[in-house]
Amino acid sequence: MTPSIITLSDKKGKVFAVIKKKAGMEVASNISLKDYNTFGIDAVARHLVKVSSVEKLQDVLKQDRWKETPKLILGGGSNVLFTSPEVELVVKMDIRGIEVIEENDDFVWIKVGAGENWHELVMYCIDQGWGGVENLSLIPGTVGAAPMQNIGAYGVEIKDVFTQLEAVDIETATLRTFNPEECKFGYRESVFKNIYKEKYIIASVNFRLNKRPQINTSYGAIEEVLTERLGSTGAKSASIRDVSEAVIHIRQSKLPDPNKIGNAGSFFKNPVVPRAKFEGLQQQFTSVPGYPVSESKVKVPAGWLIEQAGWKGKRFGNVGVHNRQALVLVNFGSAQGEEIKKLAYDIQQSVQEKFGILIQPEVNIV
Ligand code: FAD
Ligand code: EPU
Repeated sequence: MTPSIITLSDKKGKVFAVIKKKAGMEVASNISLKDYNTFGIDAVARHLVKVSSVEKLQDVLKQDRWKETPKLILGGGSNVLFTSPEVELVVKMDIRGIEVIEENDDFVWIKVGAGENWHELVMYCIDQGWGGVENLSLIPGTVGAAPMQNIGAYGVEIKDVFTQLEAVDIETATLRTFNPEECKFGYRESVFKNIYKEKYIIASVNFRLNKRPQINTSYGAIEEVLTERLGSTGAKSASIRDVSEAVIHIRQSKLPDPNKIGNAGSFFKNPVVPRAKFEGLQQQFTSVPGYPVSESKVKVPAGWLIEQAGWKGKRFGNVGVHNRQALVLVNFGSAQGEEIKKLAYDIQQSVQEKFGILIQPEVNIV
């Protein structure tokens, strides 16, 4: 089949993209990725393919021309930092659909396409009266990326509602199912970020939601906002929509909006240290916050460590550390990925020197 060709030009007539449509597959060439990542880094994709079905994804993987090409799988680009000016092939996930696969009086099981927007899914569930994901309101990105790092916020992680996912093996283009045990979810972790990094593309994710929702206000700030809004008794009987609105309120008061200033949320993970190490820190820094995660381990907020190391609100040319959340690195407009990476490295070194803790990036540096 002869591919149909569409060229896109700017106001001066300069061609900035050539799109070839072949067998229903859209391939764009030399595309700026600035609008495809929330850091707003202006890298270029030599080729960008949008895939809207499992079959199209498999077609791309089977093509001889791309068999050996490294592929960057992209959802909403809200957890990536591009550090090279060029990426050879971007596979943009656009598989849509929310399907009810089973339900009873208590629960509903749904299957969701990887390209669906996470927050829109949360809003859809709330509209249906299905509970379980309301605490995860306003997390940017796609459903397919959510299991990658077991997204979490305000006392809930997706592992709490996850039942299984389907993923395509990049090497063989075959579809495989992963159950919760096989995903090995942890704090900001899964097999897809570790042993299966760049081996599988998540095509759909299944969740079990609660038709008789139980709200979770274990994260103190939610309770506070609900009490402010509904009074102390109201907070106990709040609806899932009330919880979602409280979470949105808290998030908007702390986190910068990527549409206004480039960022990827928390740049680093919160380190989990042995209890003895934490007790040592307490002796030196009496106000150090810590949350026990087991008998022997304590999670220390990286935002506190970075703030204490003197970085909060600091700006260095095009990049900086947000003034309300020290865990968030920002692009003031025209930064290169390397500038953000350098800032992250300097912060990491200084936290290591001051506290003896090596904080690790949460963001995927590519
Ligand atoms: P992308 O950035 O496109 O990709 C992230 C990684 O996943 C990349 O390595 C990519 O190759 C891979 N990937 C993407 N899609 C697929 C797929 N279908 N199959 C295989 N690999 C894939 N995260 C939290 O956990 N909690 C928060 O509270 C939170 N708050 C945030 C707030 C802000 C303002 C921002 C900007 C980010 C925040 N994040 C948070 C991080 C981010 O939203 C999540 O990690 C989200 O799941 C990323 O989705 P995405 O589609 O944008 O992924
Ligand atoms: N803190 C400071 N200074 C700061 C920021 C934080 O001292 O500038 C300390 C405070 O003690 C505060 C504590 O850190 O009480 C925790 O701060 P916050 O509630 O803002 O949460 P966080 O640990 O910074 C984590 C996640 C967020 C998630 C929130 C809410 C990680 C790496 N980050 O942030 O996730 O939304 O909790 O659950 O676990 C993301 O992953 O991108 C993300 C935004």
